Amino acid sequence: MNILTLETTCDETAAAIVTDRLEVLASVVASQDDLHRRFGGVVPEIASRAHLERILPVVDQTLRQAGLSLGDLDAVAVANTPGLAGSLLVGLAAAKALCVAQEIPLIAVNHLQAHIYACRLASREDVFPCVGLIISGGHTSLYRCQGPLQFELLGSTIDDAAGEAFDKVASMLGLPYPGGPSIERAARQGDPTAYSFPRALLKDEDRLDFSFSGLKTAVRYKIARPGQRDFSNVELSGRQVADLAASFQEAVVDCLVGKAFAALRQTGLAVLCAGGGVAANSRLRRRLAEQADRQGVRLHVAPVRLCTDNAVMGAIAVERLRAGLVEDLDLDVFPGVVRKTGSPPR
Ligand code: KG4
Ligand code: ZN
Repeated sequence: MNILTLETTCDETAAAIVTDRLEVLASVVASQDDLHRRFGGVVPEIASRAHLERILPVVDQTLRQAGLSLGDLDAVAVANTPGLAGSLLVGLAAAKALCVAQEIPLIAVNHLQAHIYACRLASREDVFPCVGLIISGGHTSLYRCQGPLQFELLGSTIDDAAGEAFDKVASMLGLPYPGGPSIERAARQGDPTAYSFPRALLKDEDRLDFSFSGLKTAVRYKIARPGQRDFSNVELSGRQVADLAASFQEAVVDCLVGKAFAALRQTGLAVLCAGGGVAANSRLRRRLAEQADRQGVRLHVAPVRLCTDNAVMGAIAVERLRAGLVEDLDLDVFPGVVRKTGSPPR
């Protein structure tokens, strides 16, 4: 059985073809980084227009890569929650059109569940039940994941997402978008103890939430005086940029590792899965691995190519098919996060 999966939740237009045995026959990701770079972050209107231009060429390219034609598809899956409303709509409209034309079933994908499913796909092991740490440009949250489709929110950021903080701090430091890889690169030459930055909520063991906006402001105050709004005339040396990047990254990593292991203690679970763009960060990956080793926790971090947005992780559609969860053509988009995701909302 061949399933075409579509992913347009944010600023990547992606398609893949997976089989019901979880084989990946093709995967294409058209990144929009170039379009958003000069704004230092994703501009929703630009993102949805770019999806509209790219979705059909991306589907064509995916079919060619797999050596298949539309007639060989047995179902279409699409991420319809959470994400940018305009971006989600483009993927959903394309998926519905393909389903009508080919008379094949439509499957809804929850993008956050898909980020964790990337760990299941890559490890080829049953990773559930586990604590799921989802860290991306739009989300930073911890879930108790009873199964691939049964997620219960344990905690999340009360302000910025971790990736958003990376992107904003990179912009302050004059580093290019996306900020995560830029900061990681700059931090390699820096001293993580050079600046002391806050680790918000970290000492509050009972609370599994995150907060990164104070950290972002603390970096800002190291660069400019309070009240000074314009960064363009602030000259930072290469050393300062590297030290600020390393110290900021270490603070984010401390919070992510600290809360993930607090969630394991609270739930009594012994498996941790991490996914989303920020999970590509090599310092975070190393720190998670060290801590997991020390505490006897089974750790699955999605492989780097499956951390940032992609359609391969939409293979979670296979689980929905098995559970008989096929959608009607009145399926809608749900931009916000659903707190208890037994199944994506209808
Ligand atoms: O999962 P993703 O591709 O899109 C969302 O669903 O949001 O995550 C994108 C985010 C961006 O904020 C980007 O700066 C961050 O992931 N990111 C990283 C790294 N690579 C991407 N953050 C830290 N270190 C990285 N190596
Ligand atoms: Zn994502």
